[in-house]
Amino acid sequence: MNKKTVLTILKKKQIGEKITMLTCYDYVTAKLISSQDIDVILVGDSVGNVKLGYNNTLPVSVEDMIYHTKSVRRGNEGALLITDMPFMSYEISIEDAIRNAARIIKEGGAEAVKLEGGSEIVDRVKAISDAKIPVVGHLGLTPQAVNKIGGFKVQGRNEEEYKKLISDAQALEKAGVFAIVLEAVPEKLAKEVTQCVRIPTIGIGAGRHCDGQVLVVDDMLGMFTDFTPKFVKKYANLGEIIKAAVKNYIDEVREGKFPQEGNTYK
Ligand code: KIV
Repeated sequence: MNKKTVLTILKKKQIGEKITMLTCYDYVTAKLISSQDIDVILVGDSVGNVKLGYNNTLPVSVEDMIYHTKSVRRGNEGALLITDMPFMSYEISIEDAIRNAARIIKEGGAEAVKLEGGSEIVDRVKAISDAKIPVVGHLGLTPQAVNKIGGFKVQGRNEEEYKKLISDAQALEKAGVFAIVLEAVPEKLAKEVTQCVRIPTIGIGAGRHCDGQVLVVDDMLGMFTDFTPKFVKKYANLGEIIKAAVKNYIDEVREGKFPQEGNTYK
């Protein structure tokens, strides 16, 4: 399979081909999804909710992100590998931001990093990008700002937020990001952003006009059911399949039906 790079992603926008991206956190899943030619794997800080059981992403550490990136890296067969910089790993100073981004690349094996925020973080974006690390932006619903925005709500619905999001996207492009994730924003706004930047937009709950789409693999496979936003489409219901299989195993062990002769050594 051809190795996907930042250039592959940029080219896709130019030729009008949709970009496919999934968030995952481990070796087995990375191997499965990259075998299907996914363009980008994101090791998202949603790992905090989905794998670590927190009710937001704030407790996730750089170490957590490195650990999961290493696992995904070993399973990934050709997707571009992007890792989230977690809360407070790029806010404190430019030096801190570069150091943490570098650790995610050097120790985790990611090929790019993603940061949440707009004009307020452009100095960090530029510094990381100048340090030869490709950067992805993330606008709209930025879960690391949950306490500031008062919950996980659709963003960009009033005129002020609408205009700010467009100028943030332009500011991020100028600072050097090679793509922008747009999360939970009205379709019209995502379309306008997509038209006014040259870099690709990748939507999650941002409608049909983005240059690509991203979902969390545990959401679209029906594994993570603590909450399911409207924008998630369930392509399978593995949660129910797993529960049925585990019940079957328990019953068979209890009834002495497993193991059978074929499962034993002579
Ligand atoms: O953390 C994550 O998985 C993300 C995606 C939802 C874009 O940021």
